[in-house]
Amino acid sequence: TDLAHIRNFSIVAHIDHGKSTLADRLIQSTGTVKDRDMKEQMLDAMDIERERGITIKANTVRIDYTADNGEQYVLNLIDTPGHVDFAYEVSRSMRAVEGSLLVVDSTQGVEAQTLANVYQAIDANHEIVPILNKIDLPASECDRVAEQIEDVIGIDASGAIRVSAKTGVGIHETLEAIVQHLPPPTGTRDAPLKAMLVDSWYDAYLGVIVLVRIMDGVLKKGDRIRMMSNNSTHHVDRIGVFKPQREDIPELGPGEIGFLTASIKQVRDTRVGDTITHEKGGTDKALPGFNPSQPVVFCGLFPVDSAEFEDLRDAIEKLALNDASFSYEMETSAALGFGFRCGFLGLLHLEVIRDRIEREYDIDLITTAPSVVYHIHLRDGSMEELHNPADMPDLSIVDHLEEPRIKATILVPDEYLGDVLKLCQDRRGIQMDLTYAGTRAMVVYDLPLNEVVFDFYDRLKSVTKGYASFDYQLTDYRQDNLVKMSILVNDEPVDALSMMVHRDRAEARGRAMVEKLKDLIPRHMFKIPIQAAIGGKVIARETLSAMRKDVTAKCYGGDATRKKKLLEKQKKGKKKMRQFGKVDIPQEAFISALKMD
Ligand code: GTP
Repeated sequence: TDLAHIRNFSIVAHIDHGKSTLADRLIQSTGTVKDRDMKEQMLDAMDIERERGITIKANTVRIDYTADNGEQYVLNLIDTPGHVDFAYEVSRSMRAVEGSLLVVDSTQGVEAQTLANVYQAIDANHEIVPILNKIDLPASECDRVAEQIEDVIGIDASGAIRVSAKTGVGIHETLEAIVQHLPPPTGTRDAPLKAMLVDSWYDAYLGVIVLVRIMDGVLKKGDRIRMMSNNSTHHVDRIGVFKPQREDIPELGPGEIGFLTASIKQVRDTRVGDTITHEKGGTDKALPGFNPSQPVVFCGLFPVDSAEFEDLRDAIEKLALNDASFSYEMETSAALGFGFRCGFLGLLHLEVIRDRIEREYDIDLITTAPSVVYHIHLRDGSMEELHNPADMPDLSIVDHLEEPRIKATILVPDEYLGDVLKLCQDRRGIQMDLTYAGTRAMVVYDLPLNEVVFDFYDRLKSVTKGYASFDYQLTDYRQDNLVKMSILVNDEPVDALSMMVHRDRAEARGRAMVEKLKDLIPRHMFKIPIQAAIGGKVIARETLSAMRKDVTAKCYGGDATRKKKLLEKQKKGKKKMRQFGKVDIPQEAFISALKMD
């Protein structure tokens, strides 16, 4: 296809504003999928997904469209992950297209993810077509929302298309706007091949499928290609497009989007944002700004039942094959036994992986408190990354610590603003901006990521009754007064419970932790001190008093079977205990103590 007849675009939206429904409708109304097949198609895809546990990216699709001017166009829609954890992937896929449809639910208005995603589109120099969706609903307020788009985002929304992705109203206008308002791609056919790796995923039949956008040159079946980040070379055995079902084609030219397969075994071997060129006669200039995403949140994953360690290893290895941004290494904890220290792009990413292990692999997990990556600057001038508070080096060699900070954007109805400001203030936030859009306030805060990984999102939802939306991006690393807090039970440090905290918040956290543990640890025959300490200094302390009598004492004179039962019960209880010095701590104590509030 010649460049003038190609349009490449993505859809940006807050969750639930109708991105998938709109994409389905665009596909269906152009006859890309016949009406009759629409339901079946979708169901098929879902069944396969369920059966094989793989993701079908149905939203990356090539649409053939005959416009009102009589010309034939190829419209390529690429799907972008919607969540903040995948911001880097979003920004790369935005660079593979020239325009965006900005979908806003006209009954709701602009939300935090609308903003985060549209700013990414603006950064990528996209032409943006605003769309007001769900106009079939009585609560739809198109004028108000259009005004809000202009106020908050600062783009012209006077010509925003009014759409119901549900009934199909406005779909034709949307297709015409794509052709008329979005620019065609640019690129040179005779130049050396330069293709951007937009996305990749595993397919049980074909192996790794790589989605590419051709910038310059032509990619053909049978070509030998090279990934510029690691110089690995591959033989291309298949090239094609999604309509949305896979269709093989002989080549992809400049401006086109499609897939290749090349007997690549692991998704790990393909990096989003990488440049692909020919092994011979390729370009030597990679696309700028390649910078694979790094995990920022770490936590330990341990099997509740230590017999399941090998199953857990198996599950983690399988998941990692298909997720290049998930990292892991083995970890041993005196408290929790064998497990893994895992790195994630953010909290959602952590939850998704943890849920998959529990649901798909049926392994009960203990998740240790999530920790961010700290930069430890040593006295000798070198810098180390700290992924696990338990690895904190001796303070005598440490000069100072830095922690990651984020820029958080929160949209919230007026009446909850006070509570939101208080929450951010309590979490060491610095207010950057506060503006209004109608009855909603938009606050921007500079916050330490470590205050957000605990339970910030849950707290935010509860103080705003679910009406706030939240989004963040990492900004920089900054020095602060951070310390490692250890927990000692009967004078023995319990590794799984140590954490990094700000000095000013250490007392409160330490106090909460020892009080909780006092209730969770059963009494022993002797007194047990439970302490929180920084370095050698105790900052909070509780004492668990000694048990006065043997548990069986009250059975004296009673019948023997009851006594036996009681001892049996004790023995069973023992199994789930972990021994620390002379103290037995039940597994549940760790689970509960690590649920911070
Ligand atoms: P995620 O896939 O969860 O990110 O959400 P999304 O933005 O893709 O939204 P989705 O298309 O799943 O739509 C969210 C909900 O809104 C669904 O229940 C849709 O049926 C509904 N919806 C989408 N468009 C319309 C519309 O025009 N009118 C009405 N009444 N409902 C709609």
